[in-house]
Amino acid sequence: MELKVFDNYGGLSVAAAEMIMDCIKDKPDALLCFATGDTPKLTYQELAAGIKREGTDISKCFFIGLDEWLGIPPHNNGSCHYFLHHYLFSPMGISPRQVHLFDAMTTNEEDECKRMNSIISKRGGIDLMVVGIGMNGHIGFNEPGTAIDAAVHVTPLDEMTKNVGKKYFTEEVTINKGITVGLKQVMQAKTLLMIANGKKKAPVIKKAIEGEISTDFPAALIRKHHNGILMVDSEAASELKTYFND
Ligand code: GLP
Repeated sequence: MELKVFDNYGGLSVAAAEMIMDCIKDKPDALLCFATGDTPKLTYQELAAGIKREGTDISKCFFIGLDEWLGIPPHNNGSCHYFLHHYLFSPMGISPRQVHLFDAMTTNEEDECKRMNSIISKRGGIDLMVVGIGMNGHIGFNEPGTAIDAAVHVTPLDEMTKNVGKKYFTEEVTINKGITVGLKQVMQAKTLLMIANGKKKAPVIKKAIEGEISTDFPAALIRKHHNGILMVDSEAASELKTYFND
């Protein structure tokens, strides 16, 4: 794993966007999997701006969503669906035929999982995953204790995820279950880019880097990833004993 520490959120977001653009340049038909949340907002804005500026051809890429709150309709502005369209797909002018997101309103969860599993395997795995870290160390909705070989699955949400998750919604909603790309696919992604910023993520980053490597704290598994890059700002790195930067 490579740890990169940036002075601030802006620097981190520009570097993360550049990495995504480099991946697309290297492999124009890349399969890209994107997280939602507060952390990647600026990365996605920088990415959309960078792609426009450089005229990068994204017409052959395919995009999938990392996770979704089950039961939250796509027009709700707290849904991952809404977020990805608002921050990524609309600004980047991505056609609907290049996107597959979870259907949060599905009546057949098993089929929903199968559909995403099959998209990932037909394309030979995920080329680049951009993930954040939950306050309980989750990656997507791979909550603490998720099996390392879990593929796409539906999961009850941890109490902490439900509490923290309220911040995304303008109205009161019930969020009990999530659907997510699994840890197996996270660990097999050709590149895993994990990003975190701000003081409140400092204890989480400390655990991910200095704690035990265990599925009890999924973010720590990045240390076992064959091509894991963790980008943090100086605030998120502030509780680390030491860090190396190049
Ligand atoms: C949410 C999302 C995750 C995200 C994480 C961190 O639960 N489902 O995919 O990475 O929490 O979010 P934030 O960036 O807002 O801290």
